[in-house]
Amino acid sequence: MSQPSVINIGICGLGTVGQGVWKHLARSRAALESRLGVRLKLHRASVRDLRKARAVRVPASRLTTDPLAVATDPAVQIVCELIGGTGVAREVTLAALRLGKTVVSANKALLCAHGPEIFAAARKNGGHFFFEASVAGGIPIIKALREGLVANRFGLIYGILNGTCNYILTRMEREGLGYAEILADAKRLGYAEADESLDVEGWDTAHKAGILAFLAHGAWVPTRAMLVEGITRITQTDLQFAREHGFAIKLLAVITRDFASDELFVRVHPTLLPLSKVLANVNDVYNGISVTGDVVGETTYIGRGAGQDATASAVISDIADAVILLNRGNSPLPAPVAQRCPLAPPERIRSRYYLRLDVRDRPGVLAQIATATARAGVSIADMVQRPSKHRNAATLLLTTHESNEQAIRATLARFRRLSNVLGEPLLLRIFAS
Ligand SMILES: NC(=O)c1ccc[n+]([C@@H]2O[C@H](COP(=O)([O-])OP(=O)(O)OC[C@H]3O[C@@H](n4cnc5c(N)ncnc54)[C@H](OP(=O)(O)O)[C@@H]3O)[C@@H](O)[C@H]2O)c1
Repeated sequence: MSQPSVINIGICGLGTVGQGVWKHLARSRAALESRLGVRLKLHRASVRDLRKARAVRVPASRLTTDPLAVATDPAVQIVCELIGGTGVAREVTLAALRLGKTVVSANKALLCAHGPEIFAAARKNGGHFFFEASVAGGIPIIKALREGLVANRFGLIYGILNGTCNYILTRMEREGLGYAEILADAKRLGYAEADESLDVEGWDTAHKAGILAFLAHGAWVPTRAMLVEGITRITQTDLQFAREHGFAIKLLAVITRDFASDELFVRVHPTLLPLSKVLANVNDVYNGISVTGDVVGETTYIGRGAGQDATASAVISDIADAVILLNRGNSPLPAPVAQRCPLAPPERIRSRYYLRLDVRDRPGVLAQIATATARAGVSIADMVQRPSKHRNAATLLLTTHESNEQAIRATLARFRRLSNVLGEPLLLRIFAS
C-alpha cells in the first residue's frame, strides 16, 4: 500500500491566531489526516521576536524571524499568512503566490487594500488564495457566499461584523453606562485594542463589508467609496429612545444591490434595527450576518466573529480545502472574476432617519427645525424633547419618514447654519427591509 503524501504547512505569524492554528492543528491532526488521506506537517513558522513566550511549543529549529523564508521555502505547500497589516503580509502573500503556492489568510485589511493584485497574482501563477477567517471569524460566511449560495443574486446583505463594537453597544444597553466607561473596561478585558479607532470608527467593519461585496457581486468597492460611520457618539439617550420604540442599536454593514439599475451600495453605520430582526438580538462579541438571495430567500449566520479559537477554526477549514486542492486537484468554486459595478449615488439610498440635536430653549426654535427639514425635502415623522446637558437648552429627538442620503445631508447642513442648534447633530439610520 502506498504511503499517504505529506503536505507541509508554513505559518507566518505565531500571535493570537497563529498559535490557535498551531494548537488546534496539532490536536485534530489525526482526525483531519484520516479524512483528507494525507499527512499534515507543521513544517516551519515565523515570528518577529524569537524570545517571546508562547502558549504553544514550537521546536527552535522550526522557528525563524524571516517570514519570506517560510513563504518561499520549496518544501512548504500551504503558507498561512497570520501576521496582519498590509506591509510584510503583502510581501509574504505575493511571494508565495508568485511561486504557485496556496496561501491561507485571515487578513481583511490586506485583502481590502490589495484584493485585485492578490487574486491576479494567484491566477497568473497557478496559486490559490483562501480567506475564510478574514470576515466574521468562525462563521463560514465566505464558503456560504462562494459555494452554498452560488445560485443566487444578492439584493441585501447586512451584518454585525465587529465584535468589539457589538460588545460595547450591548453593555451600554444592558448596564446604562456611557461609551467611554464601557470602552475603558473593554480594553482592560482585552475585548478592545489599545488603539480602538479601527474598530469603533467602523473601518474594520468596512474592510469586511468590502470582502463580502466582492464575493457577492464581484466588485471591489474601496472604503473611500463607502459611507462609514462609527459608534463613538452613541449615548444612553439614543439607546433609550431606540428601546422605547422597539429597536436595538447595532453597528451594521449594509450591502445593497438594485437589480433594476444594477447599482451597488456599501455602507457601515450604527443603525436602529427592529427588535423583531434576529440580528437585533445578537449580543456581546458575537457577529451575525443576514444574506438575502433571490433564489433562497433570507439566510442568517451567527457565531463568534473573532478570538483565537473561532479564527483558528476558519483557518483550518481553509487548510483542509487547500489540501483537497493540492492532493486531488478539486478546487472549491473560485472567487468571482472582478468586474466594474456602478455605485449608487446618495439620492438613491433610501431610509428613515433618527436625529438627535441640542437646541436653545427659545420660542420659535421648533419652527426653525421644522422649516429646515422641510426645505431639504425631508418630512418629520415624530419629535420628542428631552433635557439637555447644555444650560437653557433642550435635546430634540426626531425621526423622519422615508427619505434619502442626499436630502438628509442637506438637512444636517441647514441645521449647522442655525445659531439655535448647539454642536453637531447625531444622525442614525433606521433599518427597513
Ligand atoms: N485576533 C483575532 O481575533 C483575529 C480575528 C480574525 C482575523 N484576524 C487577523 O489575523 C491576523 C493575525 O492577527 P493576530 O491577532 O494573530 O495578530 P498578532 O497576535 O499581533 O500576531 C502577529 C504575528 O505576526 C508576527 N509579526 C508581526 N509583525 C511582523 C513583522 N514585521 N515581521 C515578522 N513577523 C511579524 C508577530 O511576531 P511576534 O509574536 O514575535 O510579535 C506575531 O507572531 C491579522 O490579519 C488579523 O486581522 C485576527
